[in-house]
Amino acid sequence: MKNPHVLDGVAIASEIKAEVAHEVAGLSKKGIVPGLAVVLVGEVPASQIYVRSKVKTCGELGIYSEMLTPPESITTDEMLAIVAELNAREDIDGILIQLPLPKHVDTKRLLEAISPDKDVDGFHPVNAGRLQSGQPGLQPCTPAGIIEILKRSKLPIAGQNAVVVGRSDIVGKPAALLLLNESATVTVCHSKTRDLPAVTRNADILVAAIGRPGYVTPEMVKAGATLIDVGINRLTDAADVDRYFAGDAERAATFAKRGSVIVGDIHPAAFAISGAYTPVPGGVGALTIAMLMHNTVKAARLRRGIAVESI
Ligand code: GUN
Repeated sequence: MKNPHVLDGVAIASEIKAEVAHEVAGLSKKGIVPGLAVVLVGEVPASQIYVRSKVKTCGELGIYSEMLTPPESITTDEMLAIVAELNAREDIDGILIQLPLPKHVDTKRLLEAISPDKDVDGFHPVNAGRLQSGQPGLQPCTPAGIIEILKRSKLPIAGQNAVVVGRSDIVGKPAALLLLNESATVTVCHSKTRDLPAVTRNADILVAAIGRPGYVTPEMVKAGATLIDVGINRLTDAADVDRYFAGDAERAATFAKRGSVIVGDIHPAAFAISGAYTPVPGGVGALTIAMLMHNTVKAARLRRGIAVESI
């Protein structure tokens, strides 16, 4: 069998970021600087890392960014006031509220308060509706990144059997709709699906977005399929590392150095029988920030009625 093709998310993300920077430069000639506001509540270390990375990328591409860091104790009403202010600001094109929020804050209410035209996460029901009905709008970053990986790697989508495992509002459902809009034959699987391996073995494109380490095993994969792994799961137990990465010296070294390694939702042994796959890390995850930058510029254009050029 041919060696599987590794779908390099980092390289594809760089390509998209270069295109976004080019677009930003074009807009600046019209006196427009796209602006992104990121709201980070409290002090969740993982969220702090993500947000810093988003703000840094804005700087690299010429996008104005602003980080708001209200304390953990902020109320839903106070957050709603922040959102209302950002909705009204002319210099802000995109609003991102980093999730998860503290339990006492009403996440759904807040996400629905963001103006759909500034909803760069694509989480607002209006944007979900636009996606569902094929109208232009802002699409969730990770699912949009999956489509970019497939298209830019020249992998066919139309007519392919695409199976999405996981039905979250953020990844599974929008990924299924985007694949359907590209004329794939789409099946969405979840915890109640009967005989999951029989369904996944039918996939030409298999998207795993379940949030469980190594859940998709080789028996669940058709030889030559394209595997898209959305999972990011941290392993801290040496026995687990050995179970997923037996004989992988590089991972063993990472584990020895950091005390943890990342594994996706697809068992690494399944990659060997695939035609192409996205690695973890360095696959789908790399696209999320690039697509956020793309969405911010798209929002800046849409809000001013300027035609969207790229992607
Ligand atoms: N937390 C983890 N990923 C994301 C994301 O894509 N958007 C938001 N808003 N929060 C997140």
